[in-house]
Amino acid sequence: MRFDILTIFPEMFREVLGCSILGIAQEKGAVSYHLHDIREYTGDKHRRVDDRPYGGGPGMVMMPGPVVRAVEAVEAADETPSLQVLLTPQGRTFDQEMAAELAQTRRIMLICGRYEGFDERIRLALGAEEVSIGDYVLSGGELPAMVIIDAVVRLQKDVLGHPDSALQDSFGVEGCLDFPQYTRPPEFRGMRVPDVLLSGNHQKIAEWRAKQAKLRTISRRSDMLEASR
Ligand code: ADE
Repeated sequence: MRFDILTIFPEMFREVLGCSILGIAQEKGAVSYHLHDIREYTGDKHRRVDDRPYGGGPGMVMMPGPVVRAVEAVEAADETPSLQVLLTPQGRTFDQEMAAELAQTRRIMLICGRYEGFDERIRLALGAEEVSIGDYVLSGGELPAMVIIDAVVRLQKDVLGHPDSALQDSFGVEGCLDFPQYTRPPEFRGMRVPDVLLSGNHQKIAEWRAKQAKLRTISRRSDMLEASR
């Protein structure tokens, strides 16, 4: 799977994409990341990508020329058509279901804005899918792009050490949160690991975990259970 990332801060991504699961996935050849600097597409010696909003108001707006030229040039760099995603707080909210959907595509282009947002003609010219990672405003689309990459890459085949890991996570099993996990030592500051987990009885362990996952979901996120009815 190929990721193309368009940003004015490619350096923000290098460390994150090189570490842990995301780095290993690239080493294994399951995914490839391609960073593109939108400033390379300005066609102006000041390399300007933003300007003041028409009609007045605070902040700056991403200009349509550099972004649209960058998207077109990057799209043409590979024959597989990409699913183009524009990161914006006005988009459809990203969730595990969308992560699973995106994980099926062969190529994703993530377009990161900064400042007060994108000139409206960028949306109109591209027809990209607009995606938000939640109801809060960040300073740009870079962190949201990294969140999406992480959630999507860990769903790729052969990326996680154990094939069931992705399925068992919170939201992965019947819309429930994850059950409580324990590791060594068996006792920490007077708190003991539940006996059932040390029993070696796999049937009992599975039942205990399913029950704990349900109880945790009821107490913390009953909305998830109502939504899945
Ligand atoms: N850009 C700024 N805030 C954002 C958000 N919450 N999601 C996606 N892109 C953004």
